[in-house]
Amino acid sequence: MQARDTDADWELIARVQPYFGVLARPEFRTESIDDAARARFFESGRGDIGQAIDVIRAHLDPTFAPAAATDFGSGAGRLTLAMAAYAGHVVGVDVAPAMRDLAAEQAAAQGVGNVEFTDAVPARADWVNSLIVFQHIPPARGHLLLDELLASVTVGGVASLQFGTHRDRDHLHEVFRDVALARFDGATMTTLAASEETQLGDVSMFDYDLGRLASQFVAHGFENLWLEHTYHGGVHGFWIFVRRATVPAPAGATEDAAPAVVPASEGSRVRRWLGRDRDRS
Ligand SMILES: C[S@@+](CC[C@H](N)C(=O)[O-])C[C@H]1O[C@@H](n2cnc3c(N)ncnc32)[C@H](O)[C@@H]1O
Repeated sequence: MQARDTDADWELIARVQPYFGVLARPEFRTESIDDAARARFFESGRGDIGQAIDVIRAHLDPTFAPAAATDFGSGAGRLTLAMAAYAGHVVGVDVAPAMRDLAAEQAAAQGVGNVEFTDAVPARADWVNSLIVFQHIPPARGHLLLDELLASVTVGGVASLQFGTHRDRDHLHEVFRDVALARFDGATMTTLAASEETQLGDVSMFDYDLGRLASQFVAHGFENLWLEHTYHGGVHGFWIFVRRATVPAPAGATEDAAPAVVPASEGSRVRRWLGRDRDRS
């Protein structure tokens, strides 16, 4: 069965209910949001990013101060603008043009000059962040986007990326919203046909396999994942924090590949892939 075209959903949401589409609280609906509610919306972003910075500095890099950062799925800029207080420059990446326009407008209104918004993942970043985004992207596509993001992180840089992994009964309704015909064998449900009744602009949630995610991080030279549990209305997940210690072996590299040691960074030993000496110390 074809995965849903979530880009079309987000473009409509971005034009009609951008703030509510990000945080589904009645005060953020287009018809009711006022300056005070908008201020609370951005304040919540500062809270989330403050929490991320605390985790990074406590567990990964005590002097974390990235020059270049990427906020993947930046929406109205709730997190991007908050990240700008900790990074030299932040690029917000979003698939929906109306979200990017709104975020740029808010950056100007709030006097935040070290941010920009685009639809493409930048080639390099010392910090890539994403929160409440991948859970809206079908995993077949999300894993490819994760590859692109992880490949962009500099050695010594940090990834803080959140994924939904499973859900409880508070969020099962949406599964049934999307299904017209199914087979259930007592353990596994297989969708045979998608419902025709779902509307453009309906928000969808997707669960990722944590083991597959972990293997992808390791393949990209990220080890020792730090997990923070997340919970959004019945959807459980993890904000994964990890520092890149190594670069993965280049394609075709042999055991005799020339060792290259990356200079020690902030007291931790950061090494490039060493061929036969790949142990961390
Ligand atoms: C729930 S909002 C979260 C926004 C922001 N991360 C925050 O926490 O305020 C999800 C955002 O992800 C964007 N998005 C969805 N699919 C995307 C994709 N494939 N690539 C980039 N952005 C995407 C949507 O347009 C939307 O702005």
